[in-house]
Amino acid sequence: MCGIVGAVAQRNVQEILLEGLKRLEYRGYDSAGMAVLDGRSRLHRQRAAGKVAALADCLESVPLAGGTGIAHTRWATHGRPTERNAHPHQSGEDVAIVHNGIIENYESLKQELAEQGYTFASETDTEVVAHLVAREYESTQDLLTSLQHVLARLHGAYALGVVHASEPKVVIGARKGSPLVVGVGIEEAFLASDPLALLQVTDRFIYLREGDVVRLSEGGRIEIFDAQGQAVSRPVQTYEHGDGASSKGDYRHFMLKEIHEQPKVIEATLEGRIGDNGVLVKSFGIEAESLFSRAKQIHIVACGTSYHAGMVARYWLERYAGIPTQVEVASEYRYRRVVVPEGTLFVTLSQSGETADTLAALRFAQERDYLGSLAICNVPGSSLVRESDLTLMTQAGPEIGVASTKAFTTQLTALMLFTLALAKVRGQEPERQAQIVEGLRSLPERVKEVLRLDPQIEALSAAFAEKHHALFLGRGSHFPIALEGALKLKEISYIHAEAYPAGELKHGPLALVDSEMPVISVAPNDELLDKLKSNLQEVRARGGELFVFADENVAIERAEGVHMLRLPHIDDALAPILYTLPLQLLSYHVAVLKGTDVDQPRNLAKSVTVE
Ligand code: F6R
Repeated sequence: MCGIVGAVAQRNVQEILLEGLKRLEYRGYDSAGMAVLDGRSRLHRQRAAGKVAALADCLESVPLAGGTGIAHTRWATHGRPTERNAHPHQSGEDVAIVHNGIIENYESLKQELAEQGYTFASETDTEVVAHLVAREYESTQDLLTSLQHVLARLHGAYALGVVHASEPKVVIGARKGSPLVVGVGIEEAFLASDPLALLQVTDRFIYLREGDVVRLSEGGRIEIFDAQGQAVSRPVQTYEHGDGASSKGDYRHFMLKEIHEQPKVIEATLEGRIGDNGVLVKSFGIEAESLFSRAKQIHIVACGTSYHAGMVARYWLERYAGIPTQVEVASEYRYRRVVVPEGTLFVTLSQSGETADTLAALRFAQERDYLGSLAICNVPGSSLVRESDLTLMTQAGPEIGVASTKAFTTQLTALMLFTLALAKVRGQEPERQAQIVEGLRSLPERVKEVLRLDPQIEALSAAFAEKHHALFLGRGSHFPIALEGALKLKEISYIHAEAYPAGELKHGPLALVDSEMPVISVAPNDELLDKLKSNLQEVRARGGELFVFADENVAIERAEGVHMLRLPHIDDALAPILYTLPLQLLSYHVAVLKGTDVDQPRNLAKSVTVE
């Protein structure tokens, strides 16, 4: 969840590293630091608590100069977010190290090192790695070999970047369980947690595999070794999303920009996957048809917003493809004694493809008797994509705002394609499939229409800014949308929000409803509408203020305390995608009114690569 950048270049690397950190700040932002080797083999370091801007201020007063360096933006796991705990961590004046992940056995290693006289300046797990490298270097006199020896002693997950004053033109990187890519430059080479960090210097990347160690050295030399220490070659891939994603353009926040990108990215996710006869099953991979036709059940596993997408898919898969489906959060699934019925297909959903719990769940599933695994993911080359049998890439492009928006709606789009592919292979209701396919074709246009309602949604947000709680209601496939609406509101505006299936209201939560508890409801024109209307009456009767997002054709009486916003009509099946948008916009505007940090809300990070 932290961000790493490294460089070996002909020029001064301070600005390259700093720009990289700014672009990685979505991964963590409680402290930052940089270490650079100057032309005289001396290591210089600057660190600051707080965001990368605080480090930039320090560097402005005391710049670092040199062609080799590493830098880090942190999301605290071990030790408070102070300057002392900020990376890079050093061992003496020679070794500096940046780390993303968790060293699980650091306590025993720390004790061993302390007994040998090493002293510790921080509360972090990372510092032990710096001392271990320094100790190994005394005998090996080679940074690559030293790190390889040290890695053999580490348990846990890591991406590492290391420099040593005696090798002033070398950066060593290593990955196991946390992402790390190599940026290929012209006579220079770079390292980062995400290609996004390096797009200002290159668009050519090598995605390191689990266990890989890399040495970057003078003249852009890149040498990669696998977990057994064998020299290996990995393909160089060109980054295809362009660099537009890393700037806000004319938008005030990345989140707002990403909300407005949804028509385009949904269209991109559909592209090449629908033909004259419906969904192209082959677009899921050559083995898809055989795998899908053998599937008797589906297990979906994911975290957070991606889990909500999975919950929607359960309704779709059972309703349109007639296939029993279970959905579970990855952190629970991976520790459960899971019973896998014969013919079960395992599906993971993830924006980043690096979420530790989801990856662990995939590896856990691979040891069980599943038919195969499908990853629906937004990051090509991510661990989840590489380790799954089949992949369906969402085309959201890089998502920078910590609160997931376009990744969610593209996941839903991909999940509907998956549902239709299964329905087709299983010969379920071809006419209904054709209707949904038509609906998908016009979905980007409907999404644009909803985005045009932004001023009306912004006007509603004032009613929330002073509130401490909010309740979201939905029924059927809109219950997960209510959950997602509540998650968005709480994570960026810090207002406590809960979501309930509307029919559950009278079984407890109704006791909370009064004039201080705004209630938000999604009311598409579906088969559960009449039941939902009764639930809304229950709220009104208790004096609760209602905010209803409803289909333009739905007859809901206007009344005092009921605020209604009409959405364009859409096929019921696709309504969950459309009804997500007003909830995203509402949360965004409430957060702006409250003055919170919309793109980087407190205590969170974009990519959760620790358990
Ligand atoms: C919330 C949010 C998180 C992520 C979750 C899983 O807005 O973004 O809940 O959805 O951390 O991340 P991925 O999808 O990368 O596996």
